[in-house]
Amino acid sequence: MKEERKNFGSKLGVIMAAAGSAVGLGNVWRFPTEVGRNGGAAFILVYLLCVLLIGAPLMLSEFVVGRSTHANPIKAYSKLAPGSWWRVVGVEGVVVAFLILSFYVIVSGWTLYYTVQSFAGALMESRDYKAFFSDFTGDAWMPVLYGIMLMLLVHVVIVRGVQNGIEKFSKVMMPLLLAIIMVLAACSFRLPGFGQGMAYLLKPDFSKITTDVLLSAMGQAFFSLSLAMGCLCAYASYFDSGTRLQRTVFSVSVIDTLVAVMSGFIIFPAVFSVQGLQPNEGAGLVFITLPSVFNMVFGGAPFLGYLFSGMFYMLLLLAALTSAMSLHEPVTAYLHESFGLTRHKAATLVSLSCMSLGVVCSLSCGIWSGYTIFGLTFFDFLDFLTAKIIMPVGGLLICIFVGWVLDRKLVRDEVTNGGKAHTCLFPIYMFLIRYVVPIAICVIFFNELLR
Ligand code: PFF
Repeated sequence: MKEERKNFGSKLGVIMAAAGSAVGLGNVWRFPTEVGRNGGAAFILVYLLCVLLIGAPLMLSEFVVGRSTHANPIKAYSKLAPGSWWRVVGVEGVVVAFLILSFYVIVSGWTLYYTVQSFAGALMESRDYKAFFSDFTGDAWMPVLYGIMLMLLVHVVIVRGVQNGIEKFSKVMMPLLLAIIMVLAACSFRLPGFGQGMAYLLKPDFSKITTDVLLSAMGQAFFSLSLAMGCLCAYASYFDSGTRLQRTVFSVSVIDTLVAVMSGFIIFPAVFSVQGLQPNEGAGLVFITLPSVFNMVFGGAPFLGYLFSGMFYMLLLLAALTSAMSLHEPVTAYLHESFGLTRHKAATLVSLSCMSLGVVCSLSCGIWSGYTIFGLTFFDFLDFLTAKIIMPVGGLLICIFVGWVLDRKLVRDEVTNGGKAHTCLFPIYMFLIRYVVPIAICVIFFNELLR
């Protein structure tokens, strides 16, 4: 039997759930990595512009599609453009969410392992953090086991539904996450590298802005704001008619950006506190460099080291959990609403199939790393296929659809809540979504493809 379709129960719930989707590994792990790789403050400035001019309008467009139809992404596009091929955009969102979830859950499992090992003291005591990381990720079953535990947590929340699951969970987890990040940022004031870290983050060197930096910043904004993957469209389908879309976009973008920047405020003072460490360590920054920083900074007080690193990885874990839920939801909603499965059965099917793909991803980081597709391991191939090919094409199609195909009155009514919300921003939004966003995405896409 089909259950009744519920909306989020409160305005705060809407913001916490959508911010929960946006704030994830992308903020605490990927953002500092990109900042370090692309030269610090100048990258942050470009990133802020990308969020404002590209990310926010695209998020608003996904909200328009979801809220105006109150349906899962595939049904939403079919409802708005019946009988046309625009349904493909919804299919893209659901497929990409499914694929990303299968490797996102594995990396999230790593954060669960690091949280447990930090509080237990084993991480700090291991000393060789590179070996600690590669021994774990290269192991056949441990990462799978942690991935399964994480998927179970996500599954339980999703099965409980939108109001009792996603909303309740996000309303507790997001404030906790924000509290942890503030405590950690306050602690970083006391680090010897604080001044140098701040200068790195706040004094832009404009000569560092190259086209590559521009493109990396745009890609980061896409990933961090959860765009073009059906997630925000699916969440918006549970918004009621009183939800102010522009305000929600504003709140989510601000929270997401604050968490990213504050993660930088935690990580870089720590990195500069230890001689010989560089901010451009790449993807190992969080899992390899940081433990050695914690160890050196808190060497004299190991207990503080366990606590600080435990809290840091817990922050990463909470962020990852709420994002993983948002990747699960569009796929579950689609199976539930379009195939008449109960929500429970739909969620089980998604969890099991995602986890099976996740096992392959995990093994491809270790014992199956010799098997490659176009020279990439399965894990890297999925990442490449989703982030660099399917997602930009999806983003491009969304803005063409909302900017050029959808009835302008419908878009205006949704964006301004039938004229009740600010109307002065609407022409600016239309200009961005019709011209600026599609051109910017084309530039990213072709540049990445031809690289
Ligand atoms: N925005 C999330 C992050 O920053 O980690 C990742 C993500 C979640 C991407 C949900 C896409 C998505 F649909």
